[in-house]
Amino acid sequence: MDKLIEELKNLKERAYKGGGEERINFQHSKGKLTARERLQLLFDEGTFNEILTFATTRSTEFGLDKNRFYGDGVVTGWGKVDGRTVFAYAQDFTVLGGSLGETHANKIVRAYELALKVGAPVIGINDSGGARIQEGALALEGYGAVFRMNVLASGVIPQITIMAGPAAGGAVYSPALTDFIIMIKGDAYYMFVTGPEITKVSIGEEVSYQDLGGAIVHATKSGVVHFVAENEQDAINITKKLLSYLPSNNMEDPPYVDTGDPPEREVKGIESLVPTDSLKPFDMRDVIYNIVDNGEFLEVHKLWAQNIVVGFGRIGGNVVGIVANNSAYYGGAIDIDAADKAARFIRFCDAFNIPLISLVDTPGYVPGTDQEYKGIIRHGAKMLYAFAEATVPKITIIVRRSYGGAHIAMSIKSLGADLVYAWPSAEIAVTGPEGAVRILYRRDLQNAANPEEVLKQRISEYKKLFANPYWAAERGLIDDVIEPKDTRKVIARALEMLSNKREFRYPKKHGNMPL
Ligand code: COA
Repeated sequence: MDKLIEELKNLKERAYKGGGEERINFQHSKGKLTARERLQLLFDEGTFNEILTFATTRSTEFGLDKNRFYGDGVVTGWGKVDGRTVFAYAQDFTVLGGSLGETHANKIVRAYELALKVGAPVIGINDSGGARIQEGALALEGYGAVFRMNVLASGVIPQITIMAGPAAGGAVYSPALTDFIIMIKGDAYYMFVTGPEITKVSIGEEVSYQDLGGAIVHATKSGVVHFVAENEQDAINITKKLLSYLPSNNMEDPPYVDTGDPPEREVKGIESLVPTDSLKPFDMRDVIYNIVDNGEFLEVHKLWAQNIVVGFGRIGGNVVGIVANNSAYYGGAIDIDAADKAARFIRFCDAFNIPLISLVDTPGYVPGTDQEYKGIIRHGAKMLYAFAEATVPKITIIVRRSYGGAHIAMSIKSLGADLVYAWPSAEIAVTGPEGAVRILYRRDLQNAANPEEVLKQRISEYKKLFANPYWAAERGLIDDVIEPKDTRKVIARALEMLSNKREFRYPKKHGNMPL
């Protein structure tokens, strides 16, 4: 027996070495950690359980029969993250460039199957040259199987991807099908459908790897990346922080934490953050930091579509998802990217039982041919769809302006909001004062001897009528007008009341969300 155990140890040692010492050193020389080192950082010490350690490729073409590695370029298994069960796979670039073949894909699928059975999140650490060329169509079939698992798991267990290396072609789509992408900054990390070389040959455009698919590009321009990590350790830290807000599956509530911040704490001075002159911008994040427990807010998509802010916080220890307009960017108007960003976040929160809080200060949708041609109608509709579809508790606080279609898109009563509150600074109407007056009094203004004066007069009348929350409150559209300092208390009490909320929908296969 001793001999057999010795042999097992040797074989495991070989498996743990991946592509061998030389390739591990090369990986380190690029500033990257190995798959196993990454998993060590992710999991609580000594809790990782590897599965399919010895699995390897069956393919023999192009010399693969002589170039076989235990594990087949991906380490899979489960362990504990801050005491909770989590599954993970980490691609091993030291083995055939982390390329995905049949066995490699099967290992990821197996991890997903187990994670789905027990209702645990999956963390994918991607570092791969893409489909394994030697395995031909089998590799592509493998991607199909992984994508299918991503989709089957969507809305059942949280899925987080860390981009810890290259991803080209089909390799980008498994990350894209997961809930969140965390990408590391630096030359060794990039993702694109078509790389710089083929881009140059096919359309004559010259672009660097980073300008085409680096973390900053994806976090600011494409919106593919939700979080930018400074380095590998930072990517793991963000993953853990994110997990701390999420339930393990769609049947659980998000984790309650005693934060020590009293739910009924008055938010003293919060009103001074919001200029009453509604043309003056302010950063809504300052309002959020004041409302949430201990000022802790995990902002998602922080660098993209900054006219809307989305992220996780706690109020009285309970996790909430916050959707807020930010007038510091585009005056808080909603454009295509902002609508996409909000809709995706709303749907995530709804899938995982996270109540939604809207903080409203928006003048409307962004006008112009650019937005209309790109389909602001289609994209704007996603926000309406997402809020109306959501059955989690939905609480709206109208902080300042709430105009037109954007007023509806930020979740109002008729769309399904459970409670709608307004600050005394709220302005609620179909459109802003000047635009409204120019439409309502077009003829008067054309015929007036002193149009500027008439315009001013009418704007002042309009403002008096609509630039306040009371017209809507009198008609039952606002549940209460509250003092800003009570915002946190009001939300905490509403969350407590709504904690057993039940809302039903017609049975259906699935809806047809505008995409
Ligand atoms: N299939 C098979 N082997 C692959 C591979 C793939 N898709 N991608 C990388 N490898 C192998 C390389 O052949 C190399 O093996 P070797 O050291 O034995 O020669 C090893 O992995 C490391 O790759 P290398 O190219 O040296 O790494 P790099 O960091 O310089 O470049 C990439 C990384 C991803 C840019 C480059 O490997 C690449 O272009 N791969 C192909 C990308 C692609 O088009 N994939 C198909 C998309 S679905």
